[in-house]
Amino acid sequence: MKIGVIGSGGREHALCLSLKISKKIKQIYCFPGNAGTNLIATNINIDINDFKRLKDFLKKNNINSVIIGPEEPLVNGIVDYLEQFNIKAFGPNKIASQLEGSKIFTKNLCEKYKIPTAKFGVFSTAKTAFSFLQKCNFPIVIKADGLAAGKGVYISENINEASKAVDEIFNGKFGKAENLLIEEFLNGEEMSFFIISDGKSYQTFGTAQDHKRVFEGDKGKNTGGMGAYSPSRLETKELNQKIISRIIKPTLKGLKEINCEYKGFLYAGLMVVKGEPFLIEYNVRMGDPECQTLLPKLKTDFSTIIDKCMEQKLHEIEIEWLEDKTICIVLCSKGYPDTYEKNVELNLEKLRFNNNQFIFHAGTKIVGNKILSNGGRVLNIVTRSNDLKEAREISLKLLDEINWDNGFYRRDIGYKVIKK
Ligand code: AMP
Ligand code: GLY
Repeated sequence: MKIGVIGSGGREHALCLSLKISKKIKQIYCFPGNAGTNLIATNINIDINDFKRLKDFLKKNNINSVIIGPEEPLVNGIVDYLEQFNIKAFGPNKIASQLEGSKIFTKNLCEKYKIPTAKFGVFSTAKTAFSFLQKCNFPIVIKADGLAAGKGVYISENINEASKAVDEIFNGKFGKAENLLIEEFLNGEEMSFFIISDGKSYQTFGTAQDHKRVFEGDKGKNTGGMGAYSPSRLETKELNQKIISRIIKPTLKGLKEINCEYKGFLYAGLMVVKGEPFLIEYNVRMGDPECQTLLPKLKTDFSTIIDKCMEQKLHEIEIEWLEDKTICIVLCSKGYPDTYEKNVELNLEKLRFNNNQFIFHAGTKIVGNKILSNGGRVLNIVTRSNDLKEAREISLKLLDEINWDNGFYRRDIGYKVIKK
């Protein structure tokens, strides 16, 4: 069977690898992919928002199913589009993708179905936002509505910071902004919680802990994710139960009531406050770098899971996992998440990996026989072990060996769970 993967990050490299090890998959096409996917798939350089060109290529090459990695094409309706042409697309449709595409859509759903989340207000002008902020307690959270690659969120400690955030959002820093949200600051610990759903049934798909801040000790700006470990240290049966009954089930029910079935991965970004889960945000896809920590633990054949989902027969299988833990450390270009240089060579030839070590490419490209950087997050080093401390040491050793002058990474991923 042929299959397509849309996207070009570490997540998509991990998706390609899980498909590659499946006996059922004969050929993988990655749109547009990176230097890592190039080793195991055929990279096709088509703009992932050009649905017609994607469809034409898929049809011409008899590729009948495709997994969509990133949120942007999902929010823009790629699944609805491809399905019109009888291409099976793994991911939610345009309506369901509003769970990520519109924070206001999700907040309204939370209100209607009493899903625990931070208290919030929606503001459509800077003036009304400023006057509300005069009466607020700090810290407070200010968010651009719509997609902002994890960067449209400000945690403001005082009125000056908050006013600057409002100005930046309404001045279009994250694209045209018609609304912003001002949200109560929840003081707890974050957790990424995943399910996979075929529209009729769903199964949990693991937990992970991302590290969004750019510097060690969770300091500095928010990023797409500097590293993760799995499972989250917060995971317990009791907490899982609360998350499913208070957050996941009412969400799927709410979607059903607007005639919408959810197909694909659903990623709940949670804040756990004194053992109680609150929904911070939904993402309608796998997390990046969480995906890179989850897939290496999967025992069940990944292509079978995707197939069963496409046929709405997920209930026929029980997804199985290894007991191991994983840690992922992201190698970034110096300057990320602000400005950074691209096209800097990486020398990976001397690296050696065993079965428990993985390198996933993110912002890389191949030019001639050279691997060049092509983004802010460049490589992901993942180690699987029954001991997270050991896993981190091994990942760090590999990163030290890569010794990339233009890069930096956090050495403290997992610090809350790894004892010194
Ligand atoms: P989001 O893009 O909504 O996930 O927000 C990015 C990050 O901002 C989250 O991962 C949290 O670290 C933080 N954050 C967002 N909303 C809140 C909140 N209400 N309280 C505390 N932290 C938050
Ligand atoms: N790890 C954060 C994200 O994928 O949005």
